[in-house]
Amino acid sequence: MSKVLVPFYSAYGHIHEMAKAVAKGAEETGAEVRVVRIPESQMAKEGMSTQEAYVEAQNKQADIPEATTDDLVWADGVVWGIPTRFGNMPAQVKQFMDAAGGLWANGSLEGKVAGIFTSTNTAHGGQETTIITSIVPLLHFGFIFVGLPYGENPEMTEREFVGGTPYGASTLAGPDGTRMPSEGELTMGGRLGARVAKVAEKLST
Ligand SMILES: Cc1cc2nc3c(=O)[nH]c(=O)nc-3n(C[C@H](O)[C@H](O)[C@H](O)COP(=O)(O)O)c2cc1C
Repeated sequence: MSKVLVPFYSAYGHIHEMAKAVAKGAEETGAEVRVVRIPESQMAKEGMSTQEAYVEAQNKQADIPEATTDDLVWADGVVWGIPTRFGNMPAQVKQFMDAAGGLWANGSLEGKVAGIFTSTNTAHGGQETTIITSIVPLLHFGFIFVGLPYGENPEMTEREFVGGTPYGASTLAGPDGTRMPSEGELTMGGRLGARVAKVAEKLST
């Protein structure tokens, strides 16, 4: 049985919903799953706490434990929930990765499996760039990266406008942020969770 960590950052709840689907997909393989929230920054909290959507989404996450770098050591596979910020990862995720510098130094994460799911407001607002650029630090840590190929992601070829990339699962929040993940996007998230869990299981035995 593999141990799968789902660390996520979600200001408005879309990545949180995807994280639940990813966790379910991993659990269905028999994996032990831990869902944890990447700590919010004081600056972002101060800037966004006047927004109703932010406060509501944060309240829904209040019971989820905050991620620690020890969680990364515990896991065989890590499925990162990373919404886009200008086509890149949010500073909160970067700060968490930077805090794991000691684990890089002693090679603790080398050989673990990683996948990524993301969210953007707009269709071409950075889904691929967020995932691809986030792979760079993961490779420095020594993670073995797992994507979500077309064979496991048939929704990608539908004509209807949905998230989903070969690099990882994704959702679209829409221009005003009110669109929540569709069934198809949650299904793709679940498949990514299962895929990381299965590869981690194989590599850890
Ligand atoms: C500072 C900032 C930068 C953002 N940059 C982008 C962007 O480059 N492209 C895009 O489509 N959406 C962008 N967004 C929208 C977020 O990606 C969107 O709110 C997020 O994916 C929703 O996920 P969440 O509900 O889990 O926070 C940005 C949002 C913020 C606050």
